[in-house]
Amino acid sequence: MLDRTASPLLSLIRRRRPGYSLEAPFYTSPEIFAADLEAIFEQTWLFVGVEPDVPEPGDAMTVDIGANAILIVRDDDMQVRAFHNVCRHRGARLVHEEKTTVGNLVCRYHSWTYDLSGALIHAEHMGSEFDRKCHGLKPVHVRSLEGLIFICLADEPPADFDEMAAAMGPYLAPHDIRNSKVAFQHDLIEPGNWKLTMENNRECYHCGANHPELTVPLFAYGFGFAPEELDEAEREQAARYGCLTDDSHAEWEKAGIPSRMLEHLDDMVTGYRTERLPLDGDGESHTMDTKAACRIPMGRFPSAKMGGLHFWTQPNSWHHFMGDHAVTFSVIPIDAERSLLRTKWLVHKDAVEGVDYDLENLIGVWMATNAQDSELVGFCQNGARTTAYEPGPYSPHTEMLVDKFCNWYIGRMREHFDPSTPAL
Ligand code: FES
Ligand SMILES: [Fe+2]
Repeated sequence: MLDRTASPLLSLIRRRRPGYSLEAPFYTSPEIFAADLEAIFEQTWLFVGVEPDVPEPGDAMTVDIGANAILIVRDDDMQVRAFHNVCRHRGARLVHEEKTTVGNLVCRYHSWTYDLSGALIHAEHMGSEFDRKCHGLKPVHVRSLEGLIFICLADEPPADFDEMAAAMGPYLAPHDIRNSKVAFQHDLIEPGNWKLTMENNRECYHCGANHPELTVPLFAYGFGFAPEELDEAEREQAARYGCLTDDSHAEWEKAGIPSRMLEHLDDMVTGYRTERLPLDGDGESHTMDTKAACRIPMGRFPSAKMGGLHFWTQPNSWHHFMGDHAVTFSVIPIDAERSLLRTKWLVHKDAVEGVDYDLENLIGVWMATNAQDSELVGFCQNGARTTAYEPGPYSPHTEMLVDKFCNWYIGRMREHFDPSTPAL
């Protein structure tokens, strides 16, 4: 059917109004969704999982990015490798499960067999001229940032990953992600375009009205507010929060735990943000009682009260690292109006469910928060489909990081489809 509402992509990119949400086709059009896959998801570094997803040699996991099927395996030398999950014979998908353990990678169709380095080691009836060496699995770029696995489908991935890794390594290392295990994973299909899922994550304007669980450990003032709108009592609370953050940063930094904010959300291709924020109450964890959910600490810390380190990456992840557990989130686009939000809760690898942690307590805050966010994303998706929708203004006090997400997105689209104009 002819899409009479869609404007050509270039004019939509060029006329984007900074400080405002995007025009409707960015959230609804299958053509722009295809353009997003090409310009964003096939070009940039994507967060797809953690090393504890594949702890032992032969452990494998798969993830689909648009039409591309990716296979991540740990080889016999304990290296994490990534390949296209596509047999070099006639293209059959090699591994079908999301997580599995293999000896070699054997294609079910005609039994071509690859070792964990991707080399083709067995193919029957191919004749004496056939060169197995030319038919290994196609590699995909993969990097582990202190145990967080990123892949890039581009031939030449953005080089500034190294810059991010150098800056973020010291923040993440004390959490010792490689010595953790995935205690629980939850996949949620959100009824919205992937950009709405990301926009929702990049502000806490909506937290007070929608997240009764999350706002127990998280302070309301952590992500901005309009100072002139506060009454006397709120101003005092905000000032106290500011002092607490400064004091906590000073204390953590003195103990060798990097905590201060770093923000490169729209001035790097591999955009990111981090900061360690104090938590409310006992200050230990994202739980309903703000105490540690797991008895065994996850990292190497001087105290249980390490606040929450958040780490965001463009285009598709955010994470919260506490002293006792961590929660990682990846957004995988499904189509123009649906996205997969994959959440993993990590605890120390020796922690035993029911003994060292109670699963419901561990996952409670974010299970509730994700469900609430998914509903909110759906509200916006529905709105973007109506004739009434037009881009609305972002709050300069609480939605500046949403604006930076959109700046980054438009910058990437411009660089890909309109390279004559500056992108960043
Ligand atoms: S398609 Fe894989 S062995 Fe034939
Ligand atoms: Fe939210």
